Amino acid sequence: MVFFKARPGWQSPYPKVTPEGVFWRRRRFMTSLIGAGVGLAASAGGCRRSGPMDADLERSLGVPLPAVPRHRAFADAGREPTPQRYASSYNNYYEFGGSKNIWASAQALPTDPWKLDVSGLVKNPVSFDLEDLTRQFELEERIYRFRCVEAWAMVVPWIGFPMRALMALVEPTAAAKYVRFTSFYDPMVTPGPNFGFARNLPWPYTEGLTVAEMANELAFFAVGVYGRTLPKQHGAPIRMVVPWKYGFKGAKAIVRIEFVAEQPATYWNTLAPNEYGFEANVEPDVPHPRWSQAKERLVGESTALFTWEEQPTVIYNGYGEWVAGLYG
Ligand code: MTE
Repeated sequence: MVFFKARPGWQSPYPKVTPEGVFWRRRRFMTSLIGAGVGLAASAGGCRRSGPMDADLERSLGVPLPAVPRHRAFADAGREPTPQRYASSYNNYYEFGGSKNIWASAQALPTDPWKLDVSGLVKNPVSFDLEDLTRQFELEERIYRFRCVEAWAMVVPWIGFPMRALMALVEPTAAAKYVRFTSFYDPMVTPGPNFGFARNLPWPYTEGLTVAEMANELAFFAVGVYGRTLPKQHGAPIRMVVPWKYGFKGAKAIVRIEFVAEQPATYWNTLAPNEYGFEANVEPDVPHPRWSQAKERLVGESTALFTWEEQPTVIYNGYGEWVAGLYG
């Protein structure tokens, strides 16, 4: 397969956005389309109509960060950034429930103090607190396309640092082939969704990459978004962002990173291996067993009523120029 393009994959004309009420009506429409069963799309509920951002939501949005440089290659995602009132109130964070409307319950996430341990097959294992993370790494902004496996998409201005900066610090050994990322989990704080099927979920939430994927220019740790510290609903204080893969690969609220020799078990892949692969790259020609991945719906405004704006999905979410070489 050849995925290299003369121009970024997203350089096709995408329409701009619509009024907020349309967004919420569409969300209700989408919800009614989504079937039940074990899987990410089983729970796209929680629709609610709101005016301008409500005060509680606004309070959940973190504190302003000092201005950081914007990475030149990722200053334009070919689509307008999704307004934050949508991106920060339409989330997947199953530790806090099975609907998209978890932003309020996610405020229970305890983020201070925070400890992130990096260990396994590395020369310099390290344990960071929050201050170390923002002091040791140079922060930058990257506007990335975001594609959920459920076929909705956003554009998000993340603030953080490339994963490879952390790799340079810990120096993985030659034996390290994969990396396991573990999210915060405490059953007293993160009850999980209240579904019948949800009794034996493989907590904590874990994700994995190959070492080569983690070393790729695109792979990013976010500690902020929309110019502010990361809100809890997005996985404060630090989460993964791997924009050429489906959104579930981006584990939130990371407490542990381990360099390992074998492919690690991961949350969704353990739960439903036929639906959620380990690699999970955005591939329009590879349908999910229950829906097509050929198109995606943009969360945000649009001119058409009752459906989100539908656009063709682009291989590797438009980032083939950076990552196609990883997959031969
Ligand atoms: N990380 C944890 N710990 N728990 C989760 O439920 N959901 C994933 C991913 N990371 C999830 C997670 C999924 S399915 C998606 S689509 C994205 O987070 C959503 O990120 P967002 O809510 O910041 O848009």
